[in-house]
Amino acid sequence: MAIANVLVVGSGTMGNGIAQVCAQAGLVVTMSDVSSEVVAKGRAAIEKSLAKLVEKAKLTGEARDQTLARITTSTDVEGPARTADLIVEAVPERMDLKLALFKTFSAAAPLHAILATNTSSLSVTEIASATHDPARVVGLHFFNPVPVMRLVEVVRGLATSDETVAAVTAFARALGKEPVACRDNSGFIVNRLLVPFLLDAIRAHEQGVGSLEDIDTGMKLGCAHPMGPFELLDYVGLDTVYAIGEIMFAEYREARFAPPALLKRLVLAGRFGRRTGRGFFEYDQRGNRRP
Ligand code: 3HC
Repeated sequence: MAIANVLVVGSGTMGNGIAQVCAQAGLVVTMSDVSSEVVAKGRAAIEKSLAKLVEKAKLTGEARDQTLARITTSTDVEGPARTADLIVEAVPERMDLKLALFKTFSAAAPLHAILATNTSSLSVTEIASATHDPARVVGLHFFNPVPVMRLVEVVRGLATSDETVAAVTAFARALGKEPVACRDNSGFIVNRLLVPFLLDAIRAHEQGVGSLEDIDTGMKLGCAHPMGPFELLDYVGLDTVYAIGEIMFAEYREARFAPPALLKRLVLAGRFGRRTGRGFFEYDQRGNRRP
């Protein structure tokens, strides 16, 4: 089945990144979100990312314009779902939101359409339970920043068909990504290993093992990580990591997935990281870290 028309629901960091890479691969994309202000912010982020690529001579000005012309924004889901070959949901990690959306997708989308979720920790099988054909529901988990990170996790729910897995695996490759197959266990492959590592860095800091800067430097220079754990926590968003930790802890009941008190306090204080100007570190308006 050829995928030509994609609906991306959610225009935040992940949603706008997914819309961008789909449009860059020549697909017709609708990016939808709850309000025109929110979706305009998502489009502005795509423009900024494409401008970066043009600046680095990785994309021509003409290709940028063509990419942008392939992206329509909308505040509707039902209308654009009617003509979609693939829907990718990238809304916040709340099961109630996802169930309601997948019910809508299932009612509106054509019978051949694949319904994918970019969830990082919720169950694909549970999300699929809101649809009338769970064989066409699959996890398609991208990584931040989507235009740069090459991995996509293809997550098979209990009812996902082989055809659906094959179609989205080919789709991920067509985007220039490297797909890996995962079972529907919370956190899949990467977050199952990454999230306990990030949470452990916070515990190590709480226990006085090292300063934020020294722990970051240790992992960057000692293990060649591109970012230290605290930089990465702020980059991904403390609210996101907290939500993922809670979901994984609820699934596995293992202490290593439980968000430490300091993470919870920072989230309660609204310090979500780069996006809000403050997390473990402080950032200016452009997202650059303050000394
Ligand atoms: N759009 C387009 N290009 C971008 C970009 C974007 N949004 N962000 C970065 N780039 C490009 C830059 O232009 C640059 O290109 P160049 O190599 O041609 O110069 C290249 O990426 C590197 O960027 P920078 O020079 O600005 O900075 P860095 O070298 O520090 O790289 C980074 C930035 C790619 C983010 C790197 O620090 C990195 O890989 N960090 C780790 C990211 C990571 O681990 N992501 C996974 C998070 S977990 C996740 O997403 C799962 C979720 O469920 C929680």
